Amino acid sequence: VPERDGDEAAAFARRVDIETERLRLVPFAAVDTDALHAVFVDADVRRFLLDDQIVPREWVEAEIAESDVRFAASGAGLWSIREPGTPVIVGFTGFRPFFDPPELQLLYGLRPTHWGHGFATEAARAALARGFELGMDPIVAAADRPNVASIRVMERLGMRRDRTTDDGRDGTVFYVARRSEWR
Ligand SMILES: CC(C)(COP(=O)(O)OP(=O)(O)OC[C@H]1O[C@@H](n2cnc3c(N)ncnc32)[C@H](O)[C@@H]1OP(=O)(O)O)[C@@H](O)C(=O)NCCC(=O)NCCS
Repeated sequence: VPERDGDEAAAFARRVDIETERLRLVPFAAVDTDALHAVFVDADVRRFLLDDQIVPREWVEAEIAESDVRFAASGAGLWSIREPGTPVIVGFTGFRPFFDPPELQLLYGLRPTHWGHGFATEAARAALARGFELGMDPIVAAADRPNVASIRVMERLGMRRDRTTDDGRDGTVFYVARRSEWR
């Protein structure tokens, strides 16, 4: 029914928080739990990001709830990534605490069907810009040392290589973005 479709399109448009040239970023929401779960359990997404663990649906529910809390408190939560005109979630970006003590870090991932087009870089660049607007400075991101695709994203974003630690199985490389160096 066209009217209903129009309503759905309008409801979706209200959820879009950030628009880039090719992408729409929507704050994580409970209605997207199953779609997000499918992205996070993908073998190529989870390999480095989740140490290859297949996370349960409850893990995604908790991520959505914690992202909501961060959006309400500071604006720095997680967004799902879509292409305009389709509801299909192709990835995610945003901010999430990592390590101990927890530090908010920039995060991104895409379904492998969407690798190779610069979408992760485009979405993460928008998240970085939002982070700076919110007063986050510096902004940190990290990747497992063998995660060369992720390291290339941080390089493409213009982040600076910082320390390498022995966190995780193969070590972790940290990158830093500073507002004063951001163009
Ligand atoms: C990390 C990850 C998002 C990188 O995906 P990606 O597709 O390589 O990254 P981008 O979306 O930025 O695309 C860049 C690639 O598209 C190419 N490209 C094509 N068109 C482009 C465009 N318009 N703009 C920029 N790059 C473009 C680039 O040349 C590059 O390919 P290359 O690395 O072979 O040179 C992906 O590997 C992933 O989801 N991994 C699993 C989750 C994960 O580990 N996340 C990191 C933890 S923080």
